[in-house]
Amino acid sequence: MEKPLQIVITGATGFVAKNLRKYLSESNVHLISISRKNFKAFKNETKIISKTYSEKSLLPKIINSDALVHLVGIGKQSSTESFDSINVNLTQNMVNLTIKAKIKKLVFLSGLGVSPYSSTEYFISKLNAENHIRNSPINFTIFRPSYIVGKDDLFTKYLKKCIKDKMIQIPGSGKYQIQPVYINDVTKLIFTSIKEEKFRKKIIDLVGPDIITFEKYVKLFLKHSKTKISYIDLEKSYNLAIRNSKFDYSVDDLNILVGNFVGNHKKLSKLSNGKFQSVIQLLKTGALL
Ligand SMILES: NC(=O)c1ccc[n+]([C@@H]2O[C@H](COP(=O)([O-])OP(=O)(O)OC[C@H]3O[C@@H](n4cnc5c(N)ncnc54)[C@H](OP(=O)(O)O)[C@@H]3O)[C@@H](O)[C@H]2O)c1
Repeated sequence: MEKPLQIVITGATGFVAKNLRKYLSESNVHLISISRKNFKAFKNETKIISKTYSEKSLLPKIINSDALVHLVGIGKQSSTESFDSINVNLTQNMVNLTIKAKIKKLVFLSGLGVSPYSSTEYFISKLNAENHIRNSPINFTIFRPSYIVGKDDLFTKYLKKCIKDKMIQIPGSGKYQIQPVYINDVTKLIFTSIKEEKFRKKIIDLVGPDIITFEKYVKLFLKHSKTKISYIDLEKSYNLAIRNSKFDYSVDDLNILVGNFVGNHKKLSKLSNGKFQSVIQLLKTGALL
């Protein structure tokens, strides 16, 4: 019998990580999962609790693994956490650790729209993280995801809360586009990228088959509920986001939405040889509720 793959996952209790760990555990992978806090382990999973991701404590536990999937990341800054410290420096540390631990492959989730022309802090931090990986000698796959959709992602949870509160605010016209991708396709694809050589040293847009406006997405999600939709002027939205970290949309959320980023789904579908779930279909059937 073939020896099962051993895969290290960082940011273990995050949305993508939780779904990926479940999928890989069911696929008989031996997992080594790292989080800052305690969590319930799946079958075939070794748990590491580390607040600092220090090399000294992690290196002996992850040595010679087949892959490391780095899923630590923040989408908004605070007075205690900056994009530079988490998105860039921690990724650089994980690149060094991957090399020292002789791990064969690194998978990283960047962001759709990241490019050398990026001008916002979030995108620049993801670009700098990508560059640390690309300039290293390791084999990698970098995915640039649009909005990843599941039952338990942050935006779905927010929309469910809006249904309870019976109201939602849409910034600006809501006519900017998104290209959501289903979490089950994402977990499957990450595993495929670890196993298949054609993903070697590739940077790939991770986008679903449907391009849809934010407004239409929200309307489809809320369709059977009595949720009142109101539109909030974009200038006012930015004003609230800048002044109040508790406003529903952060400056970085607004930047991404207004950025209107879409990618090449056909290319992804051809490379992965797989059919992706239509998120519009999921919305229509109420499967995300
Ligand atoms: N979800 C999306 O739609 C989407 C789209 C584009 C890109 N991405 C990228 O995909 C990756 C995973 O996304 P996600 O949606 O799963 O995010 P998430 O749910 O916020 O999970 C990220 C995890 O990072 C860890 N983390 C956060 N701050 C940290 C810190 N200061 N020190 C150490 N670890 C910290 C946490 O894990 P623990 O609490 O377990 O320590 C957290 O659960 C991120 O890099 C994100 O930028 C996601």
